[in-house]
Amino acid sequence: MPRPSILVTRRLPASAVALLKTAGDVHVLDSSPDAVALRQAVAGRAALVSMLTDKIDTALLDAAGPSLKVVANVAVGFDNIDLAAARDHHVVVTNTPDVLTNSVAEFTWALILAVARRLVEGDRLIRRKGWTGWSFDFMTGTELAGKQLGILGPGRIGRAVAARAAAFGMTVAFGRHRDETTIDGHPVVSFDELLVSSDVLSVSVPLRPDTRHLIDRRALARMKRTAYLINTARGPVIDEEALAWALKDGLIAGAALDVFEREPNVHADLLGLDNVVLTPHIGSATSDTRRAMAELAAKNVVAVLGGQPALTEIR
Ligand code: GLV
Ligand code: GLV
Repeated sequence: MPRPSILVTRRLPASAVALLKTAGDVHVLDSSPDAVALRQAVAGRAALVSMLTDKIDTALLDAAGPSLKVVANVAVGFDNIDLAAARDHHVVVTNTPDVLTNSVAEFTWALILAVARRLVEGDRLIRRKGWTGWSFDFMTGTELAGKQLGILGPGRIGRAVAARAAAFGMTVAFGRHRDETTIDGHPVVSFDELLVSSDVLSVSVPLRPDTRHLIDRRALARMKRTAYLINTARGPVIDEEALAWALKDGLIAGAALDVFEREPNVHADLLGLDNVVLTPHIGSATSDTRRAMAELAAKNVVAVLGGQPALTEIR
């Protein structure tokens, strides 16, 4: 029997490629493929190791043909994958939960601190030689101690962000998810209550039809004028146009965004605002975590091609 053929859409750490080689022949694309290139490259493969920027839809699965057994997404989010289509094609889909939770939670705190203490704004000022010297009421920010951190999305990442709040003296509330009344000892409140009561609101919900534009004009208008909005989940959960409006009009104090509606494009109005911190989708981007993500994806491929259950299958 010929060895199974495995397509990897981006260069990955050598340790992950070595794992994949135990299960088949590995073909790595060296530049980010467009949909046409990806459809051509995937034909006849047994496994596809994909990134969050690769769209896995019916056309792609049809192009792959019946040889395809598994799509291993190197991300915890999987809004780039049509799960129903994958099921129809009898393709197992896996993601990379857990291994990135700490890195994303740490990064979320980096954003919270950066926006509340005007870190990036200060850095920009110095670089453009705009700093004229110390003064008493200059660039005042917001102290976090005693304030409420609202978490939208009580998954692994949301809970890891919450777990770090005590270090900064913040209280935590979660938005309602099912019918729980507390999560890890913290109160659970309605979406509306979370909006009106939070001093920092951090988004960690996955992107689904029911979370698209969850934070819209109406939601932003409910928030405190002193509040900060943080997004390390997926861009389309926030209506970017509405957010730019809210920041310009002072409806909220600031925002910090690692994800955007049309990456790598960012709404032009946000680029001109000082009260928003913008980072290029790097929440999980530590070398430790990226290696662990790639290795987990590889282990999923090895398991499925070896006739075993995947480690982290999405159902
Ligand atoms: C990154 O955004 C991920 O979903 O892993
Ligand atoms: C989502 O899957 C999370 O880990 O929060």
